[in-house]
Amino acid sequence: MKTKIKDLIKLREEKDAAGGLDKLAQRRARGLMTARDRIEYLFDPDTFVELQGYVQHHSGNFGLDKKKFLGDGVITGFGKVNDRVVYVFSQDFTVLGGSLGEMHAKKIVNIQDLALKAGAPVVGINDSGGARIQEGINSLAGYGDIFFRNTISSGVIPQISVIMGPCAGGAVYSPGITDFVFMVDKSSYMFVTGPEVIKAVNKEEVTFEDLGGAESHATISGVAHFVGRDEKDTLDMVKELLSYLPASNMEPPPDAAATDPFDRMDDRLNEIVPVNPNKPYDVKELILAVVDAQKFLEVHKGYAQNLVVGFARLGGKSVGIIANNPGIFAGTLDVQASLKGARFIRFCDAFNIPLVSFVDVPGFLPGRDQEQLGIIKHGAKMLFAYSEATVPKLTVITRKAYGGAYIVMSSKHLGADVVCAWPTAEIAVMGPQGAINIIFKKDISEAVEPETVRERLISEYKEKFANPKEPAAYGYVDEIILPVETRPFLIKNLEALANKSLKLPPKKHGNIPL
Ligand code: HXC
Repeated sequence: MKTKIKDLIKLREEKDAAGGLDKLAQRRARGLMTARDRIEYLFDPDTFVELQGYVQHHSGNFGLDKKKFLGDGVITGFGKVNDRVVYVFSQDFTVLGGSLGEMHAKKIVNIQDLALKAGAPVVGINDSGGARIQEGINSLAGYGDIFFRNTISSGVIPQISVIMGPCAGGAVYSPGITDFVFMVDKSSYMFVTGPEVIKAVNKEEVTFEDLGGAESHATISGVAHFVGRDEKDTLDMVKELLSYLPASNMEPPPDAAATDPFDRMDDRLNEIVPVNPNKPYDVKELILAVVDAQKFLEVHKGYAQNLVVGFARLGGKSVGIIANNPGIFAGTLDVQASLKGARFIRFCDAFNIPLVSFVDVPGFLPGRDQEQLGIIKHGAKMLFAYSEATVPKLTVITRKAYGGAYIVMSSKHLGADVVCAWPTAEIAVMGPQGAINIIFKKDISEAVEPETVRERLISEYKEKFANPKEPAAYGYVDEIILPVETRPFLIKNLEALANKSLKLPPKKHGNIPL
């Protein structure tokens, strides 16, 4: 027995040494964590359970039979984050560059299958040179099996990708399907075709960072939802995100102790909207003043900043917040904001997270670029996402709610359960200037003093529409509240809607305008 135990301990040491103790030490010396360090850091102490640690590849191609490593370049298993089970895979760059062959893929697939059966999230830590070239078609097949499971699990269990090194070629499509992508600043990159290929095909010189670095994906492509300063900061954000999410679509999100009084009124709210309707204000300040303990986990912070989305708590309950940001493009909706908003809304709806929308939107961003980029189909995604969302939907109109954008931003017409408006709300087909120039074009041009007439008509228009009384009279606005009353109003309504149950007509799936 003793010998067998010794043998197993030796085998474990070999497994934990992965691509070699020297390679692990080199990584640490470069300030990088190893695949196992990352897992240890992610999970609560002593909760990680490894599975299939002794798997090896079966390929003999191009000398691969002489390069066998226990675990085959990926550590898989489960552990607990804040006492809740999470499945994990973590690719090990010290083993054949973390490349994905047949058995490496099978280990990931095993984790995906277990997580789906158990109804628990999957966190995938990616650090890989991509398809293991020596294993040919079996590597490609492995990716296909992973993508298929990513898709089938979508909307059932949360799937989170953390990019902590290279992620290139078709390998990017697993993170691309998952719900959230985290990247580490300056030490991770993602691209379908790398700089070498681009140079050969397009004669274009581009750096790794420019092409697929964290900054680029977090601000331009929108592929990355979160960027960490370093690996620990990134994993801290993963843990924070998980704290807002249910383990699966069959559960409500976890409650937190409501330490912030539900009836707290923040006086800053009464002052936040400037007297001049064209002056911007910081919508994040507004959000922080309303939510529990001023805590807001912003998603897609650097991308489409005219719309702010993220997770917070109200009375201890997890909520998804969507807010127009008047500080960027006056808070208009454009193609990117629509994509960002629609995906976030659908995630929240899939995982039973109520939606709270703060509306201050003068319309869709006008311009030829926007039309040619397809603002019609992309804006429609927001409409579609809000309309089909069956979670509780609460809307606060703080200032402008004009035209189509009024409808889009979780209006009563798209099934919002409760819409409230601040006294500063203006709900109209369009802003005063544009409206008067259209409906009184002739009168103004024929007037002796056109500017005086225009000013008078604008002021009449504002009197009629620059307040929420008319929509409240029609019931499109359920209540007009003082800005300071926003927090208690939302919390009471969330409580009332906690058991909301709404079923859409049976169908295979809708046809969201992709
Ligand atoms: C097999 C690989 C590998 C791969 C790296 N290695 N990538 N082995 N298949 N795809 C091995 C190297 O041979 C080396 O082994 C070790 O990993 C470390 O690699 P280095 O090149 O020394 O490291 P570094 O200089 O840091 O460069 C990292 C790298 C580079 C930029 C990722 O390795 C690279 O360009 N790799 C290939 C990337 C790629 O084009 N992949 C295919 C993408 S297409 P030794 O034994 O010397 O330590 C794809 C298709 C997916 O993935 C399709 C899905 C449908």
